[in-house]
Amino acid sequence: MKTKTIYACQSCGFSAPRWAGKCPSCGEWNTMTEETQVKQSAATSRRVEARGGLGGASLVKQKPILLQDIEHVAEDRIKTGITELDRVLGGGIMQGSITLVGGDPGIGKSTLMLQMCARLGDVKPLYVTGEESLQQIKSRANRLNLDFSTLSVLAETNADEIVEAMRTTDAGLVIADSIQTMFRTDIESAPGSVAQVRECAALLMHAAKTLGKPVFLVGHVTKEGSLAGPKVLEHIVDTVLQFEGEHIYSYRILRAAKNRYGSTNEIGVFEMSEDGLQEVTNPSEVFLSQRNAGESGTAVTAAMEGSRPILVEVQALVTPTSYNQPQRSATGLDYRRLQMILAVLEKRLGLALGKHDVFVNIAGGLRLDDPAVDLGVAAAIVSSFRDIAIQPDTALIGEIGLTGEVRAVVSIEQRVNEARKLGFQNIVLPEANMKRFTKSSAKEQGTPNAASLSMQGLKPADRILKALLDVVGG
Ligand code: TYD
Ligand code: MG
Repeated sequence: MKTKTIYACQSCGFSAPRWAGKCPSCGEWNTMTEETQVKQSAATSRRVEARGGLGGASLVKQKPILLQDIEHVAEDRIKTGITELDRVLGGGIMQGSITLVGGDPGIGKSTLMLQMCARLGDVKPLYVTGEESLQQIKSRANRLNLDFSTLSVLAETNADEIVEAMRTTDAGLVIADSIQTMFRTDIESAPGSVAQVRECAALLMHAAKTLGKPVFLVGHVTKEGSLAGPKVLEHIVDTVLQFEGEHIYSYRILRAAKNRYGSTNEIGVFEMSEDGLQEVTNPSEVFLSQRNAGESGTAVTAAMEGSRPILVEVQALVTPTSYNQPQRSATGLDYRRLQMILAVLEKRLGLALGKHDVFVNIAGGLRLDDPAVDLGVAAAIVSSFRDIAIQPDTALIGEIGLTGEVRAVVSIEQRVNEARKLGFQNIVLPEANMKRFTKSSAKEQGTPNAASLSMQGLKPADRILKALLDVVGG
């Protein structure tokens, strides 16, 4: 076995033979630390494989075979019993898959994993804890008050021992909490270092694939928002789930940043309560629940999150600036998108925003990148600027183009349905969408009837000012 010293960036995983104060790859300072790289000779790795340590699959020389000769095995997913989680996974857990659950410390990763353990049916889970004691797991389980009769727990941080437990017990699914506490004895650097995290994950992935048992890795996220150290991890695993939320809110959003077995558009919404995470089946109601309708500077729009429409409140505060350079701030929204909308409002509508600070916030801690919310954002800004409240039962949907036109958006029926379900009578949408909407509802019975709504279609070439001013009652 040969060892070699390298310097690895703990932020992005970049490695170099020499130390540097600043990582040449990601530009972070003081992140390069010394690590020992173990180069196993071909003979050693063959010996390891022969002992069955890594499952031995790669021992057999593989030959190309005809695709048509491969037997098709129907997808057999394990349902987690948590609808919001199953949806984000793409319909349940794939056999032999490896999933990374990332998020800030304290956001609820361990709680989510433990709750999943009570809902797996015939599949027996094994929860390996490297962070908390068995007592701590027990008291959390008591707090959750669920049926954990099939759950085994193991306090272990040696990755090879975890694989051993996977091989020798009847556990059908394994959770390693957290990957940053795990280590392999043949790697000299400390647990949590890039080398350890990468090698432990690779070992567990191999075990997952060869034993056909799904593995969940819990990983903490650095303040920069990337998974600590292991950017490299994201490439190893099949699925990366991110658990997000502002600590001040109790809502938690689970999204797939990568998914080999499903879409990355779906989100799961939870609320952290006294007895664990509750699924939020109607996110719109939640995100609108604290709305101050009747105040200026707030507008409701409908965003698509995966296949689901979610009504959200956009808040804007426009105030005269006391600086030379006005401040702009976007929370839950792309900053450049906000700048574009402001530029359109200024140039096309003649709104004099140049001497005003503009703060825009998506209420409830949601982050949106659906352009259909543009019109809602613009309306909230105009409403705050003019200090006139928008009618409380108004929802605005539409993408804004650079010439000030309101462009058609996808999934309009779903958005309008959701808005109507929550009592919005006055729905402003692009005219191109409105035509399709009326046509389709005339064709198919049962789809929402446009006539029952007061829907204002905005012509594509229309300047949005008049419409917005109408909406804000000016
Ligand atoms: P945890 O799952 O330990 O977070 P992570 O594993 O991501 O670090 O969640 C910890 C937080 O959740 C902690 O602040 C306590 C809170 N919590 C509740 O509010 N209700 C509960 O039922 C549980 C189990 C935790
Ligand atoms: Mg935890």
